[in-house]
Amino acid sequence: MRPYSRTQILLHWAVALLIAAQFVFHESIADAWRAFRRGQEVVFDPLVAGHVFGGIAVLLLVVWRLVIRARAGAVPPVAGTSPRMALIAHLGHIALYGVMILAALSGLAAWFGEVELAGELHETLKPVILILVAGHIAASLYHQFYLKDGLMRRMSLRK
Ligand code: HEM
Ligand code: HEM
Repeated sequence: MRPYSRTQILLHWAVALLIAAQFVFHESIADAWRAFRRGQEVVFDPLVAGHVFGGIAVLLLVVWRLVIRARAGAVPPVAGTSPRMALIAHLGHIALYGVMILAALSGLAAWFGEVELAGELHETLKPVILILVAGHIAASLYHQFYLKDGLMRRMSLRK
């Protein structure tokens, strides 16, 4: 049996792609926000719309993931994981869920609520997300190439 369902795997990669796009195409939304703060006209071009709707999609998909996780229970650590490593992995995953939700909510509060402090929080989360994702990818590579315990296969549709 797969530890993660097909839906969970598809959701993981869809969210990862959406988040990557939020970072790659950040220029337009940053320009729009700067214009808003200076009282200039805000251009709602397709990339700005993409950031807003992409961010809302992340929020909805993450909530969906958390509902599945709450119903089915968190997937247990891969065989051979020490209790300390399991705790670190668990906290890492919780932190990833936390920053994704915070990023989306702060973005919404900044854009629709015009809350400048939320905009600052949103910007502060940028390096936090990058560091957490870098650690997450490093951990996956460590499992794949050093421990060789098949962890990556758990997030793959091909067995
Ligand atoms: C989890 C989803 C999201 C991620 C990962 C994300 C990521 C980012 C990144 C990397 C920037 C560029 C910061 C910079 O270089 O200045 C940014 C800016 C911005 N985003 Fe998002 N965003 C998300 C969701 C949203 C949502 C849902 C909205 C609004 C509805 C939004 C509104 C904004 C605004 C107004 C800015 C410019 C202000 C600022 O830089 O703080 N974001 N976002
Ligand atoms: C190349 C990029 C990525 C790789 C190789 C990767 C790999 C993995 C793997 C192998 C797992 C399963 C861990 C296990 O079985 O215990 C996992 C889970 C997870 N990943 Fe990623 N991931 C990537 C990108 C991301 C991104 C960008 C995010 C979000 C910002 C993310 C968030 C998560 C979360 C929250 C879990 C835990 C799922 C759960 O158990 O509820 N991943 N990832």
